[in-house]
Amino acid sequence: MSVMRSVLLAASDNTWLRANATRFGFVRRAVTRFMPGEEFDDMLGAARALRPSGIEAVFTRLGENVTDWAEAELVTRHYLEALDRIRDAGIPCEPSVKLTQLGLDLDRERCYANVRQLAERAHAHGNYLWIDMEQTPYVDVTLEITRRARAEFPNIGVCLQAYLFRTADDLASLIRIGAGVRLVKGAYKEPPTLAIPKKADVDENYFALARTMLADEAKRAGLRAVFGTHDTVLVGRINQHLAARGLPKDACEFHFLYGIQREAQQKLVAGGHVVKVLIAYGSYWYPWYMRRLAERPANVWFVVRSLFS
Ligand code: FDA
Repeated sequence: MSVMRSVLLAASDNTWLRANATRFGFVRRAVTRFMPGEEFDDMLGAARALRPSGIEAVFTRLGENVTDWAEAELVTRHYLEALDRIRDAGIPCEPSVKLTQLGLDLDRERCYANVRQLAERAHAHGNYLWIDMEQTPYVDVTLEITRRARAEFPNIGVCLQAYLFRTADDLASLIRIGAGVRLVKGAYKEPPTLAIPKKADVDENYFALARTMLADEAKRAGLRAVFGTHDTVLVGRINQHLAARGLPKDACEFHFLYGIQREAQQKLVAGGHVVKVLIAYGSYWYPWYMRRLAERPANVWFVVRSLFS
């Protein structure tokens, strides 16, 4: 891991910076590159604007590791209302939630009850529920909650991180239950005992996992195969693999984060692929934004430039 990436990821956990950096106008201006605004309506407006281009949305209200149960309830109610509003607006948008924002650190059973409510409402509205993957101490419990929810509802998917050594086994277990899988590289600082240290090896593991997700066994089980990456080389390799196996273009989906690789998104849609964009909103954007900077340290220049704009 590069020094810059390590520093930015360490800064993402710093409570002083979280409380203070977000007050500066130039930092707030830089963030708008990755999120259309702090309100649900900002997200909905961006999702509406994407529609003519054939791109649909996934949405997330930023926040993690809540320490107060009232807040976990508030977030759950927010997502329930969001699901209703999306149904009423007729704009296809799928929620993607973090379990630590739904109270996982406080009470596992009550957290599951929150997930269950969201899965039920999403199912009733013909929508889908995505569960984000957080740091390694949460992987087992996130998968356990996903399996429980999947046993009750068909419309459940979870994120898996290609940088973890364990992910091939986790993928096999999810294929057995036919859950949705959104494969990403992984955004957190993890020890080399648990996460593949070299980026090139993570990329190779990603492609190996992608092939498993597109294999006959996964298709038979009903796995929804989603590739969450901005890596156009990997996207190209996955598409070559689809063509070589004679699979249709809609055998998988490509999900991007809002504001990143817009040109690549358009090219994929024009080529007949399914593309969605994950749009984040909310006031608790600091740690999430620092992870975006760590993914591409050149993004720090956007912060510097916005100081002078
Ligand atoms: P890589 O980092 O190799 O980047 C490939 C290229 O894309 C770069 O060369 C650069 O040009 C461009 N790029 C990448 N990131 C950029 C950025 N921030 N700004 C500008 N350009 C950028 N992680 C996690 O741990 N749990 C989760 O639940 C999720 N969920 C999730 C959903 C979706 C839809 C996406 C796209 C990503 C996530 N992630 C995530 C984040 C993921 O783990 C990873 O950190 C980022 O996607 C960066 O990795 P890439 O695959 O883009 O490749």
